[in-house]
Amino acid sequence: MTTIDPALFRQVLGHYPTGVAVITATGEDAPHTMVVGSFTSVSLDPPLVGFLPGKTSTTWPLIEATGHFGVNVLGANHGDLCRQLAGKADRMAGVDWHVGEHGVPLLDEALVTIACRIAWVHEAGDHHFVLGQALGMAVRRDGAPMLFHKGRYGGFAPLG
Ligand SMILES: Cc1cc2nc3c(=O)[nH]c(=O)nc-3n(C[C@H](O)[C@H](O)[C@H](O)COP(=O)(O)O)c2cc1C
Repeated sequence: MTTIDPALFRQVLGHYPTGVAVITATGEDAPHTMVVGSFTSVSLDPPLVGFLPGKTSTTWPLIEATGHFGVNVLGANHGDLCRQLAGKADRMAGVDWHVGEHGVPLLDEALVTIACRIAWVHEAGDHHFVLGQALGMAVRRDGAPMLFHKGRYGGFAPLG
């Protein structure tokens, strides 16, 4: 297999912008959460979405054990919320959330939310590829999305 320098891999892939989503799952008091840039739409029929948690993630096993997860897409005004949720300590302190109709915890502030059942987990190098069957979804507010590009958060600017 060809060897690619990890720093080059990060630099090159950092040029590809992503949205920012928060994966949520039922916890004891507050939901388990992890911020991901790897969320993606996978299939319309059947409705499938995916994301890739790293194998070193301490939160993914807690999410996996619940059998379900929520996807919460962040908006351009969610910088502080995102930094808190991507941190280590007390991620959900002061964050408003509710239990959605499929029993999955969802963030009140999200632009859109999707409740999923974990359909399939596949090994993908140093990550897992998680496929979720969408059980329910909703557009909650029509705001601009948050983007992540070259290690920085930003917003979306339409071309003319
Ligand atoms: C913008 C952004 C995107 C991220 N994308 C991913 C991702 O796709 N997969 C992943 O495992 N971690 C991702 N992370 C890191 C996680 O948010 C988290 O820090 C990591 O899972 C370690 O925390 P944990 O041990 O609680 O899982 C991302 C972080 C940020 C700020």
